[in-house]
Amino acid sequence: MDSSGVSGWMHHLVVDASVKYCNCYASRPFYRLVSVACFALCVLFFVLSAQQPSVSRRTHQLHDAGRRTLSLSEPGGPRVDAFDLTVKPFGFNIVRQPTHKSSFKSCEKTDLLIFVCSSVDHADRRTAIRETWASAEALAPLNAAVVFAVGSGVGDQDALHQEAEQFGDILQGNFKDTYMNLTLKSTMALKYVSGACGRGTKPPRFVMKTDDDIFVNVPFMLSALKKNLAGAKRMITGCIKQRSAPRGVSADGRTAPSILPDFVAGAGYVLTGRLAAELYAAASKVVKPMKIEDFFVTAQCAKLVPGAYPPKHDPRFTCGGIVKDDCKLVSMFTAHKITSHRQSAIWDKFTSDPNPCMDF
Ligand SMILES: *[C@@H]1O[C@H](CO)[C@@H](O)[C@H](O)[C@H]1NC(C)=O
Repeated sequence: MDSSGVSGWMHHLVVDASVKYCNCYASRPFYRLVSVACFALCVLFFVLSAQQPSVSRRTHQLHDAGRRTLSLSEPGGPRVDAFDLTVKPFGFNIVRQPTHKSSFKSCEKTDLLIFVCSSVDHADRRTAIRETWASAEALAPLNAAVVFAVGSGVGDQDALHQEAEQFGDILQGNFKDTYMNLTLKSTMALKYVSGACGRGTKPPRFVMKTDDDIFVNVPFMLSALKKNLAGAKRMITGCIKQRSAPRGVSADGRTAPSILPDFVAGAGYVLTGRLAAELYAAASKVVKPMKIEDFFVTAQCAKLVPGAYPPKHDPRFTCGGIVKDDCKLVSMFTAHKITSHRQSAIWDKFTSDPNPCMDF
């Protein structure tokens, strides 16, 4: 076969194919229908996809969904965004301080100063606490004191003012009173102690942080603290969340369910008094402060104070579990999710004579 023969054969092939194609296209209505349908589908697809959220918006939504499942809050409680690192622990001022009317009368004579993180509109919870475990009769013999920490900008400020005038036990910051600002409330408590009990004044022996839906068994907790932490200069104790044995985690706490380092549950933890000022000083040095109050104070700040970390685990502090039987609380330090009504019910049992909880 010569070269012209080859090119002739190829020419024939190409021309033949194009002719064939053109013929098919032109002559068969079936192919025309298919191409029109294809075109229509393309237009429809284009219109529909223009109405869908853009890819980047979709990605954000997926990201948000991921964030929601990674929240560190108690089940059923408000959600805390663990990824939002934008907390400025010093961007606030204290606008109201406890007065001599409160149970907190002296730094050095106080064995236990309890900060109850509350909010402006939780007057009923503060009333219940003042009438039960934090009453003057209950606290004075123990050299214990209670101060309520609140924010600003929401709720009835006039009512709060009246309440503060009457009881003198309100510590108020000028930051917005929201759950997400809880880190600021705790930092405010540390700031208050370091200011009120600094410069040569001996701080209270122990400082506690708790919330206004917590029952605190003060006498039992304080006697145990005096025993367990005798001589401890720098110590934080509470329920370490990673050791509270949630589902799938061994009870001895060897398998940590969280990637976070150990920290104690914010429902109730105690630090040695001198640590308050040291933790407050450390707060400004935390590189990426997290909006999770307990993690911020008891891990991030504590790690910057030599000797303050790791915290000491004590399962008698609540890690968020619900205790249904009031009498079980005689052997607990704190109990979680306690309504105002139940504060009274528990207190009635604890103080009645004979005591129904000691009736074994
Ligand atoms: C916390 O308080 C500050 C100061 O009032 C406010 O600007 C901010 O929005 C609050 N943050 C949250 C999450 O509520």
